[in-house]
Amino acid sequence: MTVLPFGVWALLALIPCPGATEELFEVSVWPNQALVRFGQSLVVNCSTTCPDPGPSGIDTFLKKTQVDEGRQWKLFLLEGVTENSVLRCFFSCAGIQKDASLDITVYREREPPEQVILELQPDWVAMDEAFTVRCLVPRVAPLEYLTLTLFQGNQELYRKNFVSLALASQRAEVTISIKAQREDDRCNFSCSAEVDLNSRGGGLFRGRSAIKVLRIFGFPPPILEIEESHTLAGTDVNVTCSGHALTSPSPTLRLQGAPDVPAPGEPAWLLFTAKEEDDGRNFSCEASLEVQGQRLVKTTVIQLHVLYKPRLEESGCPGNQTWVEGKEQMLACVPEGNPAPALACTWNGVVIDLAVPQKATQSRTGIYCCTATNQLGSVSKDIAVTVQGPSEGSSSTIFFIIFVLLVVAINTTTLCFNCRPCKRKKRKLPYHPNKAEQSQYAVQQAEMCNSRNFCVESGLQVNEISTIGVSQGGKSGSRKKEETL
Ligand SMILES: *[C@@H]1O[C@H](CO)[C@@H](O)[C@H](O)[C@H]1NC(C)=O
Ligand SMILES: *[C@@H]1O[C@H](CO)[C@@H](O)[C@H](O)[C@H]1NC(C)=O
Ligand SMILES: *[C@@H]1O[C@H](CO)[C@@H](O)[C@H](O)[C@H]1NC(C)=O
Ligand SMILES: *[C@@H]1O[C@H](CO)[C@@H](O)[C@H](O)[C@H]1NC(C)=O
Ligand SMILES: *[C@@H]1O[C@H](CO)[C@@H](O)[C@H](O)[C@H]1NC(C)=O
Repeated sequence: MTVLPFGVWALLALIPCPGATEELFEVSVWPNQALVRFGQSLVVNCSTTCPDPGPSGIDTFLKKTQVDEGRQWKLFLLEGVTENSVLRCFFSCAGIQKDASLDITVYREREPPEQVILELQPDWVAMDEAFTVRCLVPRVAPLEYLTLTLFQGNQELYRKNFVSLALASQRAEVTISIKAQREDDRCNFSCSAEVDLNSRGGGLFRGRSAIKVLRIFGFPPPILEIEESHTLAGTDVNVTCSGHALTSPSPTLRLQGAPDVPAPGEPAWLLFTAKEEDDGRNFSCEASLEVQGQRLVKTTVIQLHVLYKPRLEESGCPGNQTWVEGKEQMLACVPEGNPAPALACTWNGVVIDLAVPQKATQSRTGIYCCTATNQLGSVSKDIAVTVQGPSEGSSSTIFFIIFVLLVVAINTTTLCFNCRPCKRKKRKLPYHPNKAEQSQYAVQQAEMCNSRNFCVESGLQVNEISTIGVSQGGKSGSRKKEETL
């Protein structure tokens, strides 16, 4: 740039300078974005800030008519707008031309949100249950200018706009889920829909739904009771299900396993004799209520605990066990019973630690005696342990089986030599016992273990059932295990 003396700058500042005006003038178009319904017309105001504008006009392939003009503006009517296009408005000022462009968007239809539908689902809801508020506008366009607002009373609950949605869709919907609180009872819910085309030369179109009133009622789950949550095996149990007092009207009750459904308001009950297998069994009761044509269901589950004396089944505590020589081994014996029995085992009169694995040596072969005890009694069982040499792998299984048979035969012979009841019982056994007979045999073995007093001789005290503290009424709240060592 040429450096001018100060005086020249002063002169330039005093007299109007056309060059400066040219640089500064602006061209603008109104609206700055246009949204036109298919086939309709549009009025465009093309204006400038140039004080003395030269040639001006608009560039468009649309049919245009100048309808008005001022010194610094021109108003055009565009007719039959059927497709999206860009219009250019230009002005020249002292030989310089500038322009402004306008995006014209065409939509097929304008559909004010006339129908706004609000739905409460359900409109009668149980306290703490969820209900949904849904607002639907079946026909509205252009959708991208729509805002849906959900109200609870005068308070805004949720607002959604549809800017990102395609113009092709004309259906708007919003659904929210709310947990019913007591204070929501009798609340008014409504929805408003607004299409705001103000920024695009359109107007503001509003629609509002009718008010829907929410009703809330109490429906607590049914009450399921077992007279005695810890029942002795062999005693009768009455499982009763009744509707909660706060539930009105009375619900219909359905107790799982009960033969029939009682009349509304009546409790449902089931009487049966508790068996050991029933320990841990769950009972469920379903209360159902019909409210405003809706069927509501609440369920309660209760668990039955059956108390029974210990059992040492073949599955959990096998009577024959084989250890591999040199390996760390543990006596496998898990007793059944409720309360959970305490287990103690002896070998050669010595109480063994069941938690710590022992290194298996040939000398550990023999009969172990295990006793499981809980508040209801005890049971004992002999476990024959065979230690198999490490070299005798699966290839020499036959030898191993013969060995086991031998050991057991010797053991049995030795045992039975000192024990007549045992001999008598063994004769009754068939050559190939089936499963039931095997377990029967296991029971007999256990009885033998007791009758021989093998465990007591080995230094283990087996408490008498009556001394362990089960009261006559069969009540046994205490789960405390009594150590019997
Ligand atoms: C066109 O726009 C100019 C500049 O904003 C304004 O002065 C003029 O009044 C407008 N003309 C009409 C008809 O609105
Ligand atoms: C709900 O609306 C009705 C009628 O529009 C009005 O009488 C009532 O007071 C409103 N209830 C609440 C809780 O706002
Ligand atoms: C079981 O209990 C219910 C409710 O207490 C009672 O109505 C019903 O008669 C009882 N059944 C028996 C067999 O005791
Ligand atoms: C009974 O329900 C409890 C939890 O409610 C569950 O842990 C248990 O496994 C259920 N028992 C049976 C037998 O299904
Ligand atoms: C242990 O094994 C011997 C011989 O195989 C068999 O006679 C006996 O019935 C078994 N004992 C149990 C409790 O399975």
